Formats: sequence, C-alpha cells, structure tokens
Amino acid sequence: MLATMAISWAWLLGAVPLLFLAFWHAADVWYRAAFFLKHGKKCLPPGHMGVPFLGETLSLLWYFKHARRPDEFIGAKKTAYGKAAGMYRTHLFGSPTIIACTPAANKFVLQSPENFGVQWPEPELVGHTSVVNVEGATHTRLRGFILAAINSPRSLRTIAAVVQPRVVAALASWADKGTIVAATEIKRVTFANICMMFISMEPSPLTEKIDEWFGNLVAGLRSFPLDFPGTTFHRARKCRRKLNAVFREELQARRKKAMATKAEDDDVMGGFMRMEDEQGKKLSDDEVVDNIVSLVVAGYESTASAITWATYHLAKSPDALAKLREENLAMSESKGGLSFITHDDIPKMKYTAKVVEETIRMANIAPMAHRVAKREVEYNGYTIPKGWPVLVWVRSLHTDPNNFQDPLTFNPDRWDEPAKPGTYQVFGGGYRVCAGNMLARLQLTIMLHHLSIGYEWELLNPDAEISYLPHPKPVDGVAMTFRKLATK
Ligand code: HEM
Repeated sequence: MLATMAISWAWLLGAVPLLFLAFWHAADVWYRAAFFLKHGKKCLPPGHMGVPFLGETLSLLWYFKHARRPDEFIGAKKTAYGKAAGMYRTHLFGSPTIIACTPAANKFVLQSPENFGVQWPEPELVGHTSVVNVEGATHTRLRGFILAAINSPRSLRTIAAVVQPRVVAALASWADKGTIVAATEIKRVTFANICMMFISMEPSPLTEKIDEWFGNLVAGLRSFPLDFPGTTFHRARKCRRKLNAVFREELQARRKKAMATKAEDDDVMGGFMRMEDEQGKKLSDDEVVDNIVSLVVAGYESTASAITWATYHLAKSPDALAKLREENLAMSESKGGLSFITHDDIPKMKYTAKVVEETIRMANIAPMAHRVAKREVEYNGYTIPKGWPVLVWVRSLHTDPNNFQDPLTFNPDRWDEPAKPGTYQVFGGGYRVCAGNMLARLQLTIMLHHLSIGYEWELLNPDAEISYLPHPKPVDGVAMTFRKLATK
C-alpha cells in the first residue's frame, strides 16, 4: 500500500512539471517547427511564443497593469536573450509578433516601406481609408494635406491665435474651482480646441457625447479583439459606428449649407471635402470621416496626456517650474504684458522647449508603432516571416539609461545636449513620422506659457500610482489645488 502511494506521488511529482514544461513550450515548439519546415536553417529572432492561444499577452498585461513596471516586459527579454539581436519573437493579442527595440532595429523597420507596411491591430477602429492605414500615393496625398493644414508654420500661426482664448478661459475657471482633476480639465479644453480646429464645433451636449465615444474608441485600440457585449473592443466598435453617423450627418449638413450660401467651412473637415487627386476625384464620405476620426484619435488624448504630465512633473520639480516661469514672464513683459504668444515667439522660448521635449520623452504616450512584414525580411542574421506584425517599441529607447542618464527623472536641462542619434523616437520615424508633432509642441508650449505666468498648483496625491494602459497616467488623474499666482 505504502509502496503504491509512493509510486503515485513520485509519478505526480514528475508528471506535473513535465506537463507544465510541455504546456509552456508547446506554442514555441509549434511555431519554430512550422518555421523550420518553411525556411530550413534560417532563424527566428530570439524570444518565446508564450502559452498556447494567449502567448505572452497575460505577461504584458501583468507588467503594464498589475506590476506597473512596463519596462520590465522588454527588460526581461533583454536579460534572457541578450540585446544584440535588437528584435524578439513573441505572441501578443492573438498573433505571432516581432518586437523591435533598439535604435538600429527601429530605424530599419520604420524606414523600409518596401519591407514593412502599417498594421493597426484593428484597422476598422481607426478606419480602413484613414491616413494611418493607407499606403503609397494615397498616403502621400492625405499626409501632404494634413501637414499643410495642421503642422505647417502658416497653419500653426492661425492655430496659436484660435486656441489661446479657450486656454486662458479654462485656466481662470480652474482657479475659480480651487481643486481640479487636471486630466479631466485638460481633456475638456483640448477637445474643445480640437473640435474648433477640425470641425468648427462649439462645445455642446453633442460634443460631450462625441468626446465619450472617442474615449471608448481609443480604449478599444489596445484591447483584446473579443467582440461580444461587455468587452472593451465591442464598446469601441459601437462608438465608432456612432461617430460615423454623426460625422456623416455633419457632411450632409455642410453640403446643404454650401449649396444655399455658396460658402464653405475653412477647417480641416472642409479641407478634406475639397481635396482632389490628379484626376480631380474627391474623397468619398467614408474617406473624409475616416480621416477626421483618425486625426482626433491621433491628436486628442496624446496632446491632453502630454499637457497633464507637464503639470504633474512641474509640480514635483520646483526648480524647473521657476526657470520656466522666469522665461515666460520675461516673454510676456517683452510683449508689453500681452498675454497671447504667437507661433513666431516660440523659437525664443528655449527653456520652455526643453520642458516640452522632456515631458514628451517621459510621457511615452505612444509606446509603440505597429507594422507588418510585407515579405520575408532578413535582419541581423534573423528572419521575420511574411505577414507577422512588428511592434516598434519606442518606449524602451526613452527609458534606457544608456540613452538618457537617470531616465525616470524629469530633467529639462538634459536637453542642453541633443539626444544620441536614434534614441528619441517619441513621434516615430521615417515616412510616417507624426504628422502633428509641431501642433502637439505648440499646444504644450501655449499651455506652459499661460500656466507658468499666471498660476501655481500642488498635487493632492504626489505618490499616486501610475497606470499604463491605454496611456500612462497617474491613477488619480493628477488631482491638484490650483490658484492664481499671488503676484497676479
Ligand atoms: C504628444 C503628442 C503626440 C505623440 C506622442 C504622437 C506620436 C505619434 C507617433 C509615434 C506616430 C507614428 C506612428 C507610426 O509610425 O505608425 C504618430 C503618427 C501620427 N500622428 Fe501623432 N503624436 C502626437 C500628437 C499628434 C497630433 C496633435 C496630431 C494631429 C492632430 C497627430 C497626428 C498624427 C498622424 C496623422 C499620424 C500618422 C502619420 C502617417 O501615418 O503618415 N499626432 N504620432
């Protein structure tokens, strides 16, 4: 009897780890075997495909959501497989995936349109015909229009004048409240400005709804693509349909108005409606809607989040705030006390520019760019199979102590020297580098100017934890007391 029990235990003790090991390596062995059958002696980049079906998705979520140490997801790979490869294989969100995470590997992916196409996880959420999803001549044409409409010096001059009254009014209203949740207030004013710039809509109950739908849409972009009631992805798809309906209605209303008045709206949506290709063909309604939606997706939360982080870091860095205030008060005085800055003032605001770059570096709002291998691609002795998604993990560059000394410390003075080549990719790189990078910088500069010359603020929870999904932000939304500067 005892002998039988001992054998059963021994069997169990041996079998359980073996079963675990088999389960752990099954997916990796499966993918490697399939790769070997097709490609023979070539090698996949180092890494591990995780557990069957889920891959390493749970591990990623654990690092980002529960441990709140997002850099350790890539850090663990660097430790296990070395840094030399520059790329790792993994399996995320239902798909085998390659992660690129060094300056050279990122550059290789971002700057080879012949090898890598764009691939958002769920292209329908941003829109199949949006600038972020299309390639070739259509991409060049749409991108050219967007750059001219929102990112060129001429358009930035106009935008600087359009957005400032709302910024100034918003800050005064925060001071009246005394205590605010910065993320909420900053989102409100950023969205109001975006609605004005892109679709000439004044704040209303409808724009509040649109704002809510965009929030759900953005959350869906980084969710597991499970489409049934109750899931983030399902809610995102539903909100995308609502946004389509509301913007299509707006298009119809504009056409009717243009027929009656012979006048057209001079905003970004109006520009998309008038755009023509070489043959004089205009964009379809779907194309106009997809591009408006994707511009808001690209430019709204990202800018609001950067401004929120600026208030957070400055509250914790009194020396940096003092230098910022000194420069901006001097600027204001040089303009005879006029409170609005112009786009042409910006090159003179040298310290403010450093605060802007440092904020964007640390915020890591877009931690990765999505690509797909259009063909079998060789890199550094490894093979990326055709059709595999490639994540260009830019975040890891900005938090690597080899690239930025003491990378998790907010230090605008580090920008006395430019970043090492290839280590600063907050706006991506190559032919798809952010089409709103100068607009984002402008909005941040304007907000920093008005905040620093007129207000002071203190965090209510300076040690609040940081959540990293869908975007990094302190969990309390940066709650703060907010008041006018005593001197004002
Ligand atoms: C701090 C704020 C921002 C950050 C960190 C940011 C980051 C990025 C990144 C990393 C990309 C490259 C994605 C890729 O390679 O696939 C990108 C693309 C893009 N961004 Fe931004 N962005 C910001 C603000 C804005 C703003 C304000 C707008 C405009 C309203 C904008 C519009 C776009 C567009 C249209 C693209 C696609 C460009 C293309 O595919 O040719 N972004 N952004």
